[in-house]
Amino acid sequence: MARTTSDIAVKPAIEASGVGKRFGPTRALHNISFSVEEGEIFGFIGPDGAGKSTLFRIITTLIAPDEGKIDVLGNDTVKDFRELRKVIGYMPGRFSLYQDLTVEENLSFYATVFGATIRENYELIRDIYSHIEPFKKRLAGKLSGGMKQKLALSCALIHKPRLLVLDEPTTGVDAVSRAEFWEMLKKLKQHGITIIASTPYMDEAMQCHRVALIQEGKILSVDTPEKIRAGFSRKLFSIRAPEKFRLITALKTFPETLSAYPFGDSVHVTFLNDTPVDSLADRLKKEGVNGAEIVETTPGIEDRFLELMEKPGEG
Ligand SMILES: Nc1ncnc2c1ncn2[C@@H]1O[C@H](COP(=O)(O)OP(=O)(O)O)[C@@H](O)[C@H]1O
Ligand SMILES: [Mg+2]
Repeated sequence: MARTTSDIAVKPAIEASGVGKRFGPTRALHNISFSVEEGEIFGFIGPDGAGKSTLFRIITTLIAPDEGKIDVLGNDTVKDFRELRKVIGYMPGRFSLYQDLTVEENLSFYATVFGATIRENYELIRDIYSHIEPFKKRLAGKLSGGMKQKLALSCALIHKPRLLVLDEPTTGVDAVSRAEFWEMLKKLKQHGITIIASTPYMDEAMQCHRVALIQEGKILSVDTPEKIRAGFSRKLFSIRAPEKFRLITALKTFPETLSAYPFGDSVHVTFLNDTPVDSLADRLKKEGVNGAEIVETTPGIEDRFLELMEKPGEG
């Protein structure tokens, strides 16, 4: 019989099916299914409370799902948690560093816990750790946000994991460090490490091979950033006026306005049908909005995310 592609397909690094988790009355996760391929950088984008950390705690075997299951590297997160803990590197949002240990002591602590040594796996962290090595005698608590982030990443990598789980690694870090951080992650690809990362910053989706948009415990969409962006099918207008709040309020009174949300220093707007834009400035003036500049603009991935989040179930 001829071989089909599915015969030779490698098993996904993560396969989640029908995962649910409750905390009392709160449904933190609801029927979550997705898979992550080996070597992928896979992002979970979603606002505070979406369920990202809960999902990551299940993946890292720290808590069990109420429904469904997750296989990580061919192992069940509940039954095979011992094996999995050896091959997962986890960088939780906060508290992963010992503030009163030095940089070097933090790193050697994490190595020792996993029965590894800094020397044997140094190559893997060299690019990242070299930025903070000059400060290795400094207490972790005295490092800047960007340096803490690099140390925490070094600690999560020092036992050479096959899966790296990063929960909001760039939250609260300056823009330059955020960009640097994603560059470092891309370089880890050469070591064959699969990476999942969560973030509330929608623009960071562009740094991932694929992303899942998560909201209120549900996955709204999973795809490459390019395909997600292409899902935006309406005409998008960027409108600027000196009084942005008044502009949004006025736009929302127009029956044909589908959406109007602040976007940088402008407002992004979609309309129900082919609204003649020529008359729009006049109509806005009647509502007390002077000097409105209206241009059609190319939708970015954030526009598509906002659209999906407004109308879950579509797309
Ligand atoms: N241990 C817990 N006890 C009670 N509620 C929790 C617990 N962990 C998370 N939650 C709730 O579950 C939902 C999802 O939280 P979380 O997974 O932390 O979201 P995110 O990481 O996306 O901000 C929130 O409503 C949160 O308050
Ligand atoms: Mg969280």
